[in-house]
Amino acid sequence: GMTRHYKFDVVEKSFTRLCSTKSIVTVNGQFPGPTLYAREDDTVVVKVVNRVKVNVTIHWHGVRQLRTGWADGPAYITQCPIQPGQSYVYNFTLAGQRGTLLWHAHISWQRATVHGAIVILPKRGVAYPFFPTPHKEVVLVLAEWWRSDVEAVIDEAMNSGRAPNVSDAHTINGHAGPVSGCASSAQDGLTVRVDKGKTYLFRIINAALNEDLFFKVAGHQLTVVEVDATYTKPFTTDTLLITPGQTTNVLLTADQGAGRYLVAASPFADSPLVAVDNRTATATVQYASSVSASAVVTTTKPPPQNATPVASSFVDTLRSLNSKQYPAKVPLMVDRSLLFTVGLGVNPCATCTNGSRVVADINNVTFVMPTTALLQAHYFNTSGVFTDDFPGQPPIAFNYTGSGPSNMQTMNGTRLYRLSFNASVQLVLQDTGVIGPESHPIHLHGYNFFVVGRGVGNYDPKTSPSKFNLVDPVERNTIGVPTGGWTAIRFRADNPGVWFLHCHFEVHTSWGLKMAFVVDDGKGTNESLLPPPSDFPAC
Ligand code: C2O
Repeated sequence: GMTRHYKFDVVEKSFTRLCSTKSIVTVNGQFPGPTLYAREDDTVVVKVVNRVKVNVTIHWHGVRQLRTGWADGPAYITQCPIQPGQSYVYNFTLAGQRGTLLWHAHISWQRATVHGAIVILPKRGVAYPFFPTPHKEVVLVLAEWWRSDVEAVIDEAMNSGRAPNVSDAHTINGHAGPVSGCASSAQDGLTVRVDKGKTYLFRIINAALNEDLFFKVAGHQLTVVEVDATYTKPFTTDTLLITPGQTTNVLLTADQGAGRYLVAASPFADSPLVAVDNRTATATVQYASSVSASAVVTTTKPPPQNATPVASSFVDTLRSLNSKQYPAKVPLMVDRSLLFTVGLGVNPCATCTNGSRVVADINNVTFVMPTTALLQAHYFNTSGVFTDDFPGQPPIAFNYTGSGPSNMQTMNGTRLYRLSFNASVQLVLQDTGVIGPESHPIHLHGYNFFVVGRGVGNYDPKTSPSKFNLVDPVERNTIGVPTGGWTAIRFRADNPGVWFLHCHFEVHTSWGLKMAFVVDDGKGTNESLLPPPSDFPAC
């Protein structure tokens, strides 16, 4: 492959949304940030320059970073942040990957405004494995907008122990769509122009902080061909479900009468405990031929917020393409079988408003961020930064989706789980109902995994595995653990380093729903973590 150079200047810029103006942190003054284009096997070199007053890191979400964990980006996991006035060059290859991914800031809540698309085209001369070949491609980045400063929103929540405010709008490519009571916002919409009879590839990204989203286009069917930069068996649907951190590529054929059609992104939240921004973000698909921008728009009704059957049927239909050219390499044997409970809890807090605070945990561990990078501590054998005694099973087995036991106190710790190189891992993620069941989009850095099973209620090690799909399960990097249910994933630990696993709802990450794997080097020449680059940021 070739080498692609990018420069990301992290700068503040003012934007007006929902009738009010605020200054936000951006890359190159853009919201969303610039799209990074490359081809499979290319090397990408991005110089990130911090020209704002706060610390910055950038994560290349879904990029495998084989042996290059130093370029992964999560603050205090693989690197110390880039301090104001400093820069860092992220250098990595897109080995064996093609499709849509996203990049985003990975410190505090900065990714609210610091995010953008990664488009990895197939190698030159290699065609897409789906038909027809798209006439054009359109990147659609879904996100959330707060009227107030996002850092103030999470700071207030952490200090008070309460849940943070929900966003004030969802956005599509930075546009919230018209809102009432504000003339300037009538202009704030996105129009995607199409030619009748042509087929388009929509590359859809959910960059929202805290919400799963449904996505629909009025009057049109969507054919899913890829998720998280892995090809799928094509299937047609009128509604997509996409969690934060996930990407979905769909084909849309402009096969309707010339006109204007509404695009709608609306929230999915099936737990009654969860407050979400219930505003639907809209955009317009407009047929080019003699249709004016003032023509009536064909509308669509988004699914109800708690439409679990719509969400489940979408998730259950996804399958890997598993063709000769793109086989699904599902680990059939398991060396390490792990069960992680994921959920929320409450801990005492003397300084908090109600004398308690909401916390989140995995296997009763509320993860505490270190003050130096875990990957550095691992590589240089620095003791005292982390322990590798993260529990592989829940310390207290109970009826996870019923009412919780009274001793669901979590313990704080910077605890990692150690895996030997190439171990084949099965990880069951079990949602708990300690406060109340709630879905969690869990993201694993450094790997793709196969989603071999999913169910409601408690995972049963005796009966659940008999229904696993080990032939063509979908392969991805982020998976929604269903409300009051479980998801089983498998991966091979073939990438040495320290790899973050966390809920991609930023609020849950802030509350501690995170941990990391430490994966040992292998013994072969190409099985060790490379040394850190010379400009690696210091803490
Ligand atoms: Cu997209 Cu650790 O995140």
